[in-house]
Amino acid sequence: MLIFKKSYTFSAAHRLYNPAFSDEQNQAVFGKCNNPNFHGHNYTFEVLLTGEVDPTTSMLINMVELDALVETHILDRVDHKNLNVDVPLFEGHITSAENIAKVFFGVLQPVLPTHITLVGIKVQESQNNSAEFWNTDLVCLPVG
Ligand code: NI
Repeated sequence: MLIFKKSYTFSAAHRLYNPAFSDEQNQAVFGKCNNPNFHGHNYTFEVLLTGEVDPTTSMLINMVELDALVETHILDRVDHKNLNVDVPLFEGHITSAENIAKVFFGVLQPVLPTHITLVGIKVQESQNNSAEFWNTDLVCLPVG
């Protein structure tokens, strides 16, 4: 199986906060990530794709085309934004790296050319933590 991978970066503010929790619970669960005045990250995310390579270009997808899709559908919506306040995509979602990966997957999958399959999205929030959301149609689970 061939995988093509491309990385993108953006900067954004967020706060980990569950409105169903009390202030004390939010502080206990999310610690300094619950800072009421938000905090920022320089995020990196990777887009992993598979499909048939175009024999005339030897490429899975034209990178100009991929960049334009990611810019329009993701980067323009999140770069230099407050994910909790400015980005309707995250309404009702805690802005964890896990949810960012899941939301980005949901946004990108339907806009890719039909011959391309989105394998997964990896979101690197800091040097020490990242989350990956994988296409469950491609995950093979052990039998028995
Ligand atoms: Ni954070």
